[in-house]
Amino acid sequence: MTRTALVACGLASAAALAACQTGASTPSVAAADTEPTLASQPADRGKLDEPNTMHGVYTAAQAQRGEGVFRAVCSECHEPSDWQDQGFLNRWNEDSVFRLWYYIFERMPHGRPMTLTRVQVTDALTYIFQLNGLPTGATELGTDDDSIDDYWIIWGGGRSP
Ligand code: HEC
Repeated sequence: MTRTALVACGLASAAALAACQTGASTPSVAAADTEPTLASQPADRGKLDEPNTMHGVYTAAQAQRGEGVFRAVCSECHEPSDWQDQGFLNRWNEDSVFRLWYYIFERMPHGRPMTLTRVQVTDALTYIFQLNGLPTGATELGTDDDSIDDYWIIWGGGRSP
């Protein structure tokens, strides 16, 4: 579904493309009149229009700190590839960033949960984003619930080289 929606955005007319980029409801309705393929997209296309991890939601410096957390804590049990495998990606795709953040916050490190700071969890999560080639942006992912809860996870098929 995600892939289809992305392709539709990629191939869309200028009007529809504007709808893809802005995510505003008014242009979407206008585009639907002229672009039947977009009109027929299922409900999950909304997540692509809303703020998501394809929009540069963390910085490179933050992911670098996250790699430090990975080396110091997570690497005892995890390989980076744990978070690049298709099962992992499918499990979390189109879920909220907050759910994955909270999963790590509440359960990791396995056996000693709740021993990481919010900053460590957030940094480690952005390292996972970077491993999957998600774009960086100018602003760090915030560590308060409201900021983390702003985004959907969309992997977008990118991979770090
Ligand atoms: C002591 C071992 C251990 C450490 C250290 C550890 N983990 Fe885990 N992690 C696990 C196990 C075991 C699982 C499997 C799920 C479960 O049983 O809770 C898991 C699952 C996960 C998952 C879910 C993966 C999925 O497939 O959905 C994520 C994300 C994760 N860990 C992130 C981290 C991060 C980030 C760190 C470092 C801050 C970390 N873990 C440190 C053992 C560990």
